[in-house]
Amino acid sequence: MATKLQPAVIAIFGATGDLAHRKLIPALYEMSAANQLPTNTSILGLGRKTDITDDEFRSQVRKSIRDFVGSDSEELGHWCEKCIHYFGMGDSGPEDFEKLNEKITAIERTFDLPGNRIFYLATPPQAFGPTIESLGEAGLNSSEGYTRLVIEKPFGHDLKSAEALNDLIHKHFREDQIYRIDHYLGKETVQNLLAFRFGNALFESVWNREKIEKVEILVAEELGVEQRANYYEKSGALRDMVQNHLTQLLTLTAMEIPTAFKAGHIRYEKVKVLNAILPIHDEDIVEGQYTEGEIGGEGVRGYKEEDGVKKDSKTPTFVSLCLRIENWRWSGVPFYLTTGKRLKERRSEIVVTFRRPPVTIFKPEEKNRVHPNVLVIALQPNEGFRVSFEVKKPGSEIAVKTEWMQFSYADSFGPLPDAYHTLLYDILEGDQTLFVSADETLASWRLYTPVLHSHHTLYPYPAGSWGPKEAQKLKG
Ligand SMILES: NC(=O)c1ccc[n+]([C@@H]2O[C@H](COP(=O)([O-])OP(=O)(O)OC[C@H]3O[C@@H](n4cnc5c(N)ncnc54)[C@H](OP(=O)(O)O)[C@@H]3O)[C@@H](O)[C@H]2O)c1
Repeated sequence: MATKLQPAVIAIFGATGDLAHRKLIPALYEMSAANQLPTNTSILGLGRKTDITDDEFRSQVRKSIRDFVGSDSEELGHWCEKCIHYFGMGDSGPEDFEKLNEKITAIERTFDLPGNRIFYLATPPQAFGPTIESLGEAGLNSSEGYTRLVIEKPFGHDLKSAEALNDLIHKHFREDQIYRIDHYLGKETVQNLLAFRFGNALFESVWNREKIEKVEILVAEELGVEQRANYYEKSGALRDMVQNHLTQLLTLTAMEIPTAFKAGHIRYEKVKVLNAILPIHDEDIVEGQYTEGEIGGEGVRGYKEEDGVKKDSKTPTFVSLCLRIENWRWSGVPFYLTTGKRLKERRSEIVVTFRRPPVTIFKPEEKNRVHPNVLVIALQPNEGFRVSFEVKKPGSEIAVKTEWMQFSYADSFGPLPDAYHTLLYDILEGDQTLFVSADETLASWRLYTPVLHSHHTLYPYPAGSWGPKEAQKLKG
C-alpha cells in the first residue's frame, strides 16, 4: 500500500557518523523497502569534508545497509543512486549554508518535490547551537512546504545550557517544528505503556498509592564505556541515562490519563509529573563506578583503566535514586531509578510491586507466605510483560505458591521495528507525540541539576555485579 506521507528532503548533519550509518539511513531504507517512504524522498548527507563525492557517499551507505540491515540487491543500488546525495559543508560559514539551500532547491526541482525539508542534527552536541543559528540566519527555517528540525540527545548538560539551547531554537523555529529525540520513546514496548495503562481498565483502577507499594525502573548495561570515554567522562550516568531515558519511562508510568491521544495532551501530563517530583536529597541517591571484574566469564577492566579515562576519574558509571511524586495519585510511593554500566546483564524493565493483602487468612508458616503481586514490564531483552499471582498448590493441604502469567511481543508479533524507524516515520508524518517538548527538557533538568552540583560518595562495584551494595540500602 502506498504511504500517505508527503515526500521531503531529509538533510542529515553528521551523516558520516555512527548514528547516521548504523541507525538513521538503515531505518530509512527499511521504510522505503516497506513502501512507507514517499516516492522521491531524498536523503542528503551533510559532512564537513568537501572532497566526498555523491558516489563515494552512496557506496558508504550501501555498505552500512549491507552491514546493519543485512540486505544487498539491485534495488538497493537503484535506491542509493536515486535517493542518496552528499554535500560538503566545509567550515559551515554563511556561504556554505547558502550553497546548501541551492543544493536542496536543485534536488527539489529534479524530483519535483513540494518543498518539505527535514534537518536532522546527528552531530556531536557542541555543533547543535551553531548549526541551528546558521540555519536560521540562512532562512532555512521555512520553505514552501514544511520545515522540521530534529535534535539528537543530549539536549543540554544542565538547566542553564538546556534553557540556552531552547531559547536559541525558539529564536529561529516554532516549537511545532521541533523534534527532540529520546530514542527510548520510539521503542514499541515504551509506547505500549500507554496502551497497557489506558487500554486496560483492570490495571488503571489499581494504578495508585492505595494499591501500589513501589515502582522500580532499571536500565542495566553489560557494556562498559567502549570508545565513548571522551563524551562519558563529562557526562556520567545521571546525564547519559537518567535525565532522559529513565525519566521518560517514569513519566509514562506515572502520568494521568491524557484528554486525548495527541502530542499536546500527552506532553502536558508528562510535565505535570515532573513538576510534582520533590527535590532529591543526598540520602536519596547512590553513585558508583565499576572496577575490574568478570562479564560472561571474561575478565574486564575497571572504568579508570579504560582508554581515554582519567586515572583519578570521579565520573559515576552507576546511579540509583529514589524519587517521590507528591500528588494525589502517588504520594508516599517510592520510585527507584537505577542504571549502570558493566552490570551483571543487559536488562531494562519497570517493576511495579503491589501491596500485599491487608489481612492473611492463611497460616503464617513459609509455605503459606503470601507475596505481593508484581508486574514486570520488560523493555529489553524479551520485550513483553508478566504478572505474578499467588496460587494454591494442588493437594489436600493449603500451600500458596507464586506463578507468572506472561505476554511476549516476539511470540505474538515477531521481531519489532527499530526505534528510529518509528521515530523517522512520525517526523515525516508531523506527529510530535514521541518527542520531548521544551517544557519537559526544562522540568527534567530543573530536577537533576542540583544533584549534579552536589557532592556524593562514589562507591566502587566490581564489573559483572548489580552495582554497589549501598544501593540496596536506598530501598530500606
Ligand atoms: N551513535 C549512537 O548510537 C547514538 C545514540 C543516541 C544518540 N546519539 C547522538 O547522536 C549524535 C551523533 O552521534 P554519533 O555517534 O553519530 O557521533 P559521531 O560519529 O562522533 O559524529 C557524527 C558526525 O558529526 C560530524 N562532526 C563531528 N564533530 C563535528 C563538529 N564539531 N561540527 C560539525 N560536525 C561534526 C562528523 O562528520 P564530518 O567529520 O563528516 O563532518 C561525524 O562523523 C550525538 O549527538 C550523539 O549524542 C548517538
